[in-house]
Order: sequence, then C-alpha cells, then structure tokens
Amino acid sequence: MKRNRAPNARLLMPRGRIRRAPEGAPPAATIDPHSTHLVYALPMGRFHDLQKKWAARYPALGLVGHTPLVRVDLFREELPDVEVYAKIESFNPGGSLKDRPVLGMILEALEDGRLAGKTILDSSSGNAAIAYAWIGSALGVPVRLVVPDNASLERKKRILAHGAEIFHTAAHDGYDEALREVRRQAEREPERFFFCDQYGNEHNWRAHMESTAEEIWAQTGGRVTHFVAGVGTGGTITGVGRGLKAKNPDVQVECVVPDPFPGVEGLKPLKDPDDIVPAILDKGVIDRMWDADVDRGWEMSQRMAKVGLFGGQSSGCYMAGVYDVAKAIGKGVIVTMLNDVGERYMSTRLWDR
Ligand SMILES: Cc1ncc(COP(=O)(O)O)c(C=O)c1O
Repeated sequence: MKRNRAPNARLLMPRGRIRRAPEGAPPAATIDPHSTHLVYALPMGRFHDLQKKWAARYPALGLVGHTPLVRVDLFREELPDVEVYAKIESFNPGGSLKDRPVLGMILEALEDGRLAGKTILDSSSGNAAIAYAWIGSALGVPVRLVVPDNASLERKKRILAHGAEIFHTAAHDGYDEALREVRRQAEREPERFFFCDQYGNEHNWRAHMESTAEEIWAQTGGRVTHFVAGVGTGGTITGVGRGLKAKNPDVQVECVVPDPFPGVEGLKPLKDPDDIVPAILDKGVIDRMWDADVDRGWEMSQRMAKVGLFGGQSSGCYMAGVYDVAKAIGKGVIVTMLNDVGERYMSTRLWDR
C-alpha cells in the first residue's frame, strides 16, 4: 500500500543525530489520513532504557507499549475537519493501558532495591491487578492484590492464572475499603511487602509521559491538538498531558468525568468536593472537564464495536468525550485511548442488547 510521506519525515539516528531520510527510504514517522495504522520511530527515555535492560533477561517485558494508533472515522461525515485517533492499548500483553505504569513502577523498585526479596502489594479492581499479576509472574516475583469481591470473574481468573494471590474486601464497603485494607496490610508487614501504591507513585504518570505521550507525538507527526482521557489513578492524563504539553504547550487536555452511579469501570468520580483526588493527579494539566454520561459511554462502546474497535466501558466514555470536544472545536487532531478490550466486560451488561 502506498503511504504518504509526512512533510517533516526524518530518520532518527543513534546518539541524537538527526538527518533527512534518503529518497525512497521508509519514513521514521508517517501520518496517512487514509491508513489506519501509523508507523513511527521508537521513543527513547528512562522508561524505555529500563524496559530494554530488563527485557534482555525477561523478554515478555519488551512487549509493553508501542501500541498502534488508529484513525477513527465515526464522526467524519458530520465533522470532516476533525481527525480522531485512538491508541489501542489492548495490544499490551495484559490487555490494557495499565501494563505501562505497572511495568514502570516495578522496574524502578527493582532498580533501587525496594522490591528485593519482597512481595508486590497493591489494590486494584481490574486492569492494574492483571498487569501486576502477569509482570510479577514474568519476573518470578510474588504478587498479592487487594480486590473488592465484586470484581468480574474474567479478571479474577486471569489474576489467578498468573499465580498471584487475591485478598478480597467486601464489595458493599466500596473500592475505598480496598484502598484502606491495602494500607493496613502494608503497615502491618513492611518487611514482607513492597506496597506499589499506584495512586501515589510518581512512576505511574512518568511511564505515560515517557511512553504513551512520546508515542502519540511520534505517531501523529507532532500534529496532535487535543488529548481526551479520564481519571482513574490520574496517571494517564497527568503523564500524557505533561508529555504532550512539553512538546507543544498549545496541546489541550480534555478530561471526561462520569457520574459516580452507576459509574464507569476504571474511572473515579471527581465532581463532588468529597471525592478523593489521587495524589499523583496534576489538575493543572487539565484544560477542560467534560461531563460523561455513562449511558452515552456504553452506547459509544457499542457503536465502536460495529466499526471493529472493541474496547471496554471507559473507552466508550472517552470516545463520547471526543465527540463533544470535536463538536466544540470543529477542526483539529484529537487523540484518545482505547484502554482495554471488550472481552473483559462479557459478564457485565455492556454487550447486552
Ligand atoms: C479501563 C480503564 N480505563 C481508564 C483508566 C484510567 O487510567 P489512569 O489510572 O491512568 O487514570 C483505568 C485505570 O485503571 C482503567 O482500568
């Protein structure tokens, strides 16, 4: 298939030297409005240095990140001057965006010795738990996860398949009880556990800044104008927001915020002053907040499935936010995330017709 060469296509050379690609050579970064899969130069930085180092011994770790960015044409007829792209995070081995921050947090702890001889401990209701479980199993490090007992069967089975231990908290006490319980366990046995603390660990957002943001920048050839995401731990929006704004301060960061009930798996409610704000969330990076109607999010997940994009609830919610932003701006290059894969929601009502 013929690919258009981006006007600024360059070949990245080792040791930071950059030279023009010779005529006929494959471009380092292309953006082709008629293609769905963009080719790009691999970003470099601490996250990738550590990943490369540890993947030499544990090769599966090398599979995290470098996900495709696809053009989404759902709104093209109505809004022809807006280009929409989605990072397909289900291409990660754990099937979600959480592989990136979990890998970053664990590798940093291995590097500085905090994890030596200990069990990884954290709370999660789903995707992060799966990431901890498979990465722990790849490294041969034991993992304990504090999980509310209403977590879906798909998730629990995957976590157990990797040999991780699940400690259940009562669903009726809410997710906050899992957060309290994990702290109690970490404080009770500090010599046994390395408490990863994804809500307060800076390597969560740093992983997104050094991998997700770099990839988006390279894959759009620096043309991205808006990034749309929500907040679970705040790692994505903080890291990608900071990373993209460092490249171009004009990039706008748009945050979708759902109602607490029925809620969206993976996302935190933030509208109420009493809602707990994750320690790593940098609200300063957010340019605008958008109300995300949960029903519209579900409809959008179903609409995306009809065009071959099979994401979960939060992905539909992000895409509903993309539509609102697209209508408001009329022209631009919007990037969002397909956070995980639709199969993870078979036991929910998401795919009921
Ligand atoms: C499905 C899903 N969507 C969105 C998010 C939000 O990502 P972040 O924690 O980076 O804010 C998560 C986080 O767990 C998630 O699992």
